[in-house]
Amino acid sequence: MCRICGGVVNEFLDLGRQPLSDAFVEPDETADEFYYHLRVGVCESCSMVQQLAEVPRERMFHDSYPYVSSGSVRMREHFTRTAHDLLECESTGSDPFIVEIGSNDGTMLAAVRAAGVRHLGVEPCGGVADVARAAGVRVRSAFFEEAVGAEIAAQDGPANVVFAANTICHIPYLDSIFRGIDALLAPDGVFVFEDPYLGDVIEKNSFDQIYDEHFYVFSARSVQAMARRFGFELVDVRRLPVHGGEVRYTLARAGARTPSAAVAALVASEDARGLAELSTLHAFAAEVDRISRDLVGQLEKLRDSGLRVAGYGATAKSATVTNYAGIGPDLVPCVFDTTPAKQGRLMPGSHIPVRPAEEFAEYGADRLLLFAWNHAEEIIAKEKDFARGGGRWLLYVPEVRLL
Ligand code: TYD
Repeated sequence: MCRICGGVVNEFLDLGRQPLSDAFVEPDETADEFYYHLRVGVCESCSMVQQLAEVPRERMFHDSYPYVSSGSVRMREHFTRTAHDLLECESTGSDPFIVEIGSNDGTMLAAVRAAGVRHLGVEPCGGVADVARAAGVRVRSAFFEEAVGAEIAAQDGPANVVFAANTICHIPYLDSIFRGIDALLAPDGVFVFEDPYLGDVIEKNSFDQIYDEHFYVFSARSVQAMARRFGFELVDVRRLPVHGGEVRYTLARAGARTPSAAVAALVASEDARGLAELSTLHAFAAEVDRISRDLVGQLEKLRDSGLRVAGYGATAKSATVTNYAGIGPDLVPCVFDTTPAKQGRLMPGSHIPVRPAEEFAEYGADRLLLFAWNHAEEIIAKEKDFARGGGRWLLYVPEVRLL
């Protein structure tokens, strides 16, 4: 049953037994790993793409959650620009108030704070919340939900903007989220969120965007239907080049704003290409299988030819690829990553060791599997000596190929 509207959900993709994508394990803790069955379907009524099973939120989001928003230069720039956009376009009145759901290490809100604007982050993961606090960002440690929205409104007054990046698609219980936003948002306020876009996932075969935390994969059509159901309206959309292709959705209270032409245009383009039709999604599932087999074939060839292989970027996304395709340390002996909380641990399920990015040069790789393909431009530029020395990057999005 659809988690948004109660409609019939048809399964189109089975990604098998999967671990928690951000649960990097200590080498002696592999016996205790949590696994679940990752299956994905689409709602016949509202076209929302969603998982069939929910992982309890406390298992995924806790004080040792390792992901930091500031881990990429490009993402830091993106969030600073986002803050300035929100401050310029949406912060009306003499004393505006901006709330961010899932504020992580405060990368976006730090720019709001620097502008002297009232703000609050709501973040359940203690470690990253403390990083934000150390930067002077105001954070409430909580999972945002109906009661939290009402409490913030009572304490701080209505918000002009509620923003969320890579967070709303993580939350199955969006009915409670919308009720909380309804309680918190000023009458003319906006709810702005950005998440991976189904259009990009299908176009790029980026099936690794689907993992425990990404419960939904949104489209303009499904977000429009969801907004209506909860008394809001989708009034603007903007495609974003970050994280492999996202859309920023702007929602206002129903009737408060005239939707921009971009909304109708994006919905029409989705309908024209049959984005949420089962035939499209089944074809995508067949591509997932083909690409996974291709990737394993390539890695086996590299291993058999004696080349030195490693992974680059211990992403959450890579849990889906490695566990679905069956890629372990025999094919990718280690992965390099800049995140201290992941280093020295093993990637979930695949148990590929994560090594500090600084050790990359001395390792002397011939081929690098780019798990963090969404940061390709930044990473390939940073590691240009690798290609200069004859090394080659192996990508699997949108196809398996060597650069
Ligand atoms: P990311 O693709 O942003 O997200 P997710 O984990 O949700 O799939 O993760 C990028 C990972 O790659 C993160 O662990 C940081 C790492 N990384 C590097 O090691 N070097 C880099 O230059 C960049 C940009 C990221």
